[in-house]
This record gives sequence, C-alpha cells and structure tokens, in this order.
Amino acid sequence: MALHVVILAAGQGTRMKSALPKVLQPLAGRPLLAHVLGRALGLGAHATHVVYGHGGDAVPQAFPEADVRWVLQAERLGTGHAVAQAMPGIPDDAVVLVLYGDVPLIEASTLKPLVTAAREGKLALLGVKLDDPTGYGRIVRDAGGKVVRIVEEKDASAAERAVAEVNTGIMAAPAGRLRAWLGGLSNRNAQGEYYLTDVVGLAVAEGMTVEALQAPTVAEVLGINDRAQLAGLETTLRRRIAADLMTAGVTLADPARIDVRGRVDAGRDVFIDINAVFEGVVELGDNVSIGPNVFIRDSRLGPGCVVQPNTVIEGADVGPGCELGPFARFRPGAELADGVRVGNFVEIKNSRIGPASKVNHLSYIGDAEIGTRVNVGAGTITCNYDGANKHRTVIGDDVFVGSNTALVAPVNIGAGATIGAGSTVSKDAPPAELTVARSKQVTVRGWKRPVKKPG
Ligand code: UD1
Ligand code: CA
Repeated sequence: MALHVVILAAGQGTRMKSALPKVLQPLAGRPLLAHVLGRALGLGAHATHVVYGHGGDAVPQAFPEADVRWVLQAERLGTGHAVAQAMPGIPDDAVVLVLYGDVPLIEASTLKPLVTAAREGKLALLGVKLDDPTGYGRIVRDAGGKVVRIVEEKDASAAERAVAEVNTGIMAAPAGRLRAWLGGLSNRNAQGEYYLTDVVGLAVAEGMTVEALQAPTVAEVLGINDRAQLAGLETTLRRRIAADLMTAGVTLADPARIDVRGRVDAGRDVFIDINAVFEGVVELGDNVSIGPNVFIRDSRLGPGCVVQPNTVIEGADVGPGCELGPFARFRPGAELADGVRVGNFVEIKNSRIGPASKVNHLSYIGDAEIGTRVNVGAGTITCNYDGANKHRTVIGDDVFVGSNTALVAPVNIGAGATIGAGSTVSKDAPPAELTVARSKQVTVRGWKRPVKKPG
C-alpha cells in the first residue's frame, strides 16, 4: 500500500510576528517545512502533499526543487478540511500519514509503527502525556482503556480536561476510510471548524480499531508557535547534532557551543573548539582541528587540516594538511592543494593555490592560479578588477613574491621568478629572474625638515 504523506502547513503563525509564513521560519538553517519534508522522504513516501494557505505562493516558491504536490487551502476551515483538500490526489488503497509543518523534530522511528498500523487497517494516532495538557486535544478512553474519541480543549468537559494524554495531531489511516470520515465531518463545535480529530469518533462508531501510540519524547512532537519555542527546538536540535558528532568520533570542546545549521560529515579524531558555526554541507577529514570562533559553510577540509581561531571559510575545497588562519577568510572558489599555509588577514577568492605554497599575512588573492612552493609575501594584492571586468593572475612554481606587491591582472609570473618588495607588476615577469617595479631610492643630501613659523 503506497504511503501518501499529507503535511499541514496552512497556519498563519500569528505569534511569530513575522512577514515570513511560519513553516518557512528557519530551524538549524533550514525552513521548518524542510525538516518535515525530509522525514517524508526518509519514510519512502510515494507522494508528499503539502497543504498551504497563508503566505500564498511563498511556501511553494521556497521549495522549487522539492518533489511535492502543493495543495492550496484557500480558506482555513480546520485541520479536517485541510486534509480533505489533499484527498483527491490520493487513491483509496493507499495509507495516509498526516504530519504538521510546524512539528519539525518528529523521528522516522516514531512514525513507522503508525504507518504499519494503518497498513493493517487501523486508525493510528500519536499521543503524548504532558504535565500541563492545556490547549491540546485530549485522547478520551473508555473504562477498558480503548480510545473513544478526541476532544478539543474548547469542547471538553472538566473531567476530560483533566486527561493528561494529548493528541499530537499526527495520525495515519487507510485512505479510503479516511476519505469517508472526512466527508462526514461537521463544524458544529466551539471553534466552528472541521476537526480532523473527529475522525476518531467516526472510526470507533464503525467498529474500527483505533490505536494511540505514545511519542517517546516530548521534544519531537512539539509544535512551534512563537520564537521562544523556535529557540527551544534549536537548542534541542543542537544537542542532538552534537551528540551524533561525538558518536561519530568527533571531540567537541563543549557540546553546547557548536552550531550546525546543515550537515557536518566528519572523519575520525576531529576536534572542534567552542563557538564553531557550520552551515550547508561541510566535510571534515580525519584529524581536522577547528579552532574557536570559526565559521564554515559548504566547504571541504582534507585530513589533518588545522583551522586557527576566527577563520571564515565559504565554498572552499581544501586539501590535506593545510593550516588556515587565524583571521583568514576563504570565499567561494578557493581551492587549496595539500600543505598550503594561509595566515592572518588573508582573503582568498576563486583561486587555486598549489601544494606547499604560503600566503602568510595581509594579502588579497582573487582570480589567481598559484603553483607549487610559492611564497607570497605580506601585503601582496592581486588587482583583479579594473572597475568593469575581472582578470586572472597566474604565478608559476617556486615563485617568491616580495612584500607589498601589487599584481595588476591580467599578469603572469614565470616559474622561479622573484618579485622585489613594493613592486607594482603590470607586465608579465619572466621565469627565474628578479623583477623589480618600483621607483629607485634616492637620498637628498643636506635636506632640512621644515620648522614651525613663530606667531
Ligand atoms: C490541533 C488538534 C489538537 C492537537 C494539536 C496539537 C485538531 C482539531 N486539533 O489543534 O487535537 O492537540 O493540534 O498541536 O486537529 N492547519 C491547516 N489548516 C487549517 C487548520 C490548521 O493547515 O485549516 C494546520 C496548522 O498550520 C498546523 C496544524 O494544522 O500546522 C494544526 O493546526 P492548529 O490550529 O495549530 O491546531 P490546534 O488547534 O492547535
Ligand atoms: Ca497548534
């Protein structure tokens, strides 16, 4: 029986006080809805239907590549109405799993038993016991412990409100039956809505088995309504990711002070100091060491690399055994071979740096190709931009560039060349020769400093 996942995402999220629809609020660097979509994918769903409404096309537009069937709920008439909007795209012989777009941490292992129960022809609910169940729908059981119905807080009697077992909203059911129940919903209740939860009473009336499973942790079924809850889940997720990294063999100086807003694939014996932030997809080879206050986005660091404090790395591909920083900046297209050393206050953009080359201090290297064993002196700048176009600088193997050199691109420095300090190089420099491009030093003999006039 094919699994169809229906994700409810039409809520306004008024309490976020944001121009962004709630399901687009970022958690660990990705929209809430992206987390839930990832779950559907992980369950091997045949199709994922997302019911959206508030914020209009902003929600589908945020996922241009997702394999999703977008279903517009033009009027927000309740959770039952929302699921009903997706049903025309779902055949009777499928099973439907309902997820919420604002419940991002739900685990696949929690959802699988629900899907299995639905495949066995049951209606399966996910419940959780809360110390304070206020605001939630309660799962009402009979004297024998059988689920009878779900009652919303606003419709509940005092006795029902005392029930601590609440409905998380997540449920799974055979599609054909669900379609029939949804057709039978009424909105005669305290909120004037078509409640999805009323399908439970209808299923019981048909003599169908209703199974209410328990969520193993509260965190994974927590919905997000305001920014404080968002921050709370961010902390939960941060802890979870830190624990996973440690399990994978990474040493963290402090698991509470690492932020992974995306994915980190780390080898063995990696060390990460405090306040490291990772975004996108980051690969760290064996024995990589990351210093404090380092930011890395969408980059790969080869084995044995050492990243010194306060270094920023974006879109870089770094070979094994490199040393980066402190205070170095790598921008997209920075490609370092093995054993490269890039030191403080150096910016590298769209450039390839060959094995064992060094750019140790205060330099800008943009749109350059640097060979093997090159030494780029302090204060070297590739002048890659003429105000209209970008040009390349090519530096051969074993070149020595003296300090405070401006390399005016397009320009080639031949292999083995030496560039005298303070040069402005605007023509190609031949290999294996010394090229100096600066005005000759003069001494003015007997020159006197001006003196201040009296008065
Ligand atoms: C719902 C459940 C309640 C449960 C609680 C868990 C119903 C009637 N009640 O209550 O039993 O304890 O969730 O958080 O289902 N949505 C739509 N379209 C709509 C209405 C809602 O897409 O017309 C979406 C929302 O964006 C949200 C989800 O459905 O993701 C739940 O809606 P919400 O209004 O938060 O439901 P509750 O009243 O909290
Ligand atoms: Ca809610």
